Amino acid sequence: MSRVLVTGASGMLGSQLLLDAPRGVTAVGTDLRAGDDIVAPGYDLADPARVEALLAAHGPFEGVIHAAAWTAVDLAEEREAEAARANVDATRELARAVAQRGIPLVLVSTDFVFDGCARRPYRVDDETRPLSAYGRTKLAGELAAREAHPAGTRIVRTQWLYGPRGKHFPGTILALAKERKELRVVHDQVGAPTSTLELAPALWDVLRAGEAGVYHAACDGQASWFELAVATLELAGVTDVRVEPCTTSEFPRPAARPRYSVLDCSRLTALRGRPLAPWRAALAAFLALHRP
Ligand SMILES: NC(=O)c1ccc[n+]([C@@H]2O[C@H](COP(=O)([O-])OP(=O)(O)OC[C@H]3O[C@@H](n4cnc5c(N)ncnc54)[C@H](OP(=O)(O)O)[C@@H]3O)[C@@H](O)[C@H]2O)c1
Repeated sequence: MSRVLVTGASGMLGSQLLLDAPRGVTAVGTDLRAGDDIVAPGYDLADPARVEALLAAHGPFEGVIHAAAWTAVDLAEEREAEAARANVDATRELARAVAQRGIPLVLVSTDFVFDGCARRPYRVDDETRPLSAYGRTKLAGELAAREAHPAGTRIVRTQWLYGPRGKHFPGTILALAKERKELRVVHDQVGAPTSTLELAPALWDVLRAGEAGVYHAACDGQASWFELAVATLELAGVTDVRVEPCTTSEFPRPAARPRYSVLDCSRLTALRGRPLAPWRAALAAFLALHRP
């Protein structure tokens, strides 16, 4: 595999995918907006003509990693049609074009396809039941891609991302810690904080060595947002800020979130021979190199 298209390439995950392209692979980044590393800016993937134009102008490709999405979870509640345009229509158009060319597609999806009622980590074939508009559109995108390209679509659900680019929870906590001496953070939502530095190489492995179907990919272990906030401050050496646990009901948001969305990543672990790093070690590595 020598030439691969990466969508959403100026986003938090897509930008890391470009940096982590395996040796010998040219990763061609596309996004709506122009950016330093974006070879193919200005392609709206929900427009079938633009998808064809993108593949004609910058291909041929031997694989596609689709990280572009509408990711504003709360805003999607009031603008679900726009979220669906990005998360369903664009995914369907891309999957159709990719299927015609007979090449593999990795679609990045989310733990928000689950309702959070499980008592053990979610398996790849567990029942989906999204609680939010964002989750519904991402699940519909999964189904559209599988329908358009059943033999070549690898869906990779991940969660709680942070990385060198973009806005994320550890960065927000460190910014707030400069303004306040006490923070309240929800302790009744549990997942696995996941570094794009860990996830991006795993997505490349799924593209090159995986089979069609669903994978779960998250850092090892589990934490609440409160535990993630405490660890972020500790690892960043911030000692003069108190963090208090609170409940989701004290901080109501437009979109409901799963209370428990730890993912069972055993299929990915079997493919790669190892799990992603434990979440705390991955956070320490991230903060050592990229203090937000
Ligand atoms: N962030 C998380 O915690 C998280 C958790 C689970 C799963 N995921 C999934 O991981 C993937 C990457 O997330 P991320 O946080 O890196 O997202 P991100 O930073 O928001 O980047 C997504 C990019 O996709 C672009 N895009 C949106 N609509 C498009 C369209 N119609 N055509 C072409 N490009 C379009 C966006 O452009 P604009 O900004 O101009 O709209 C943006 O640059 C997404 O599939 C997301 O659902 C993320």
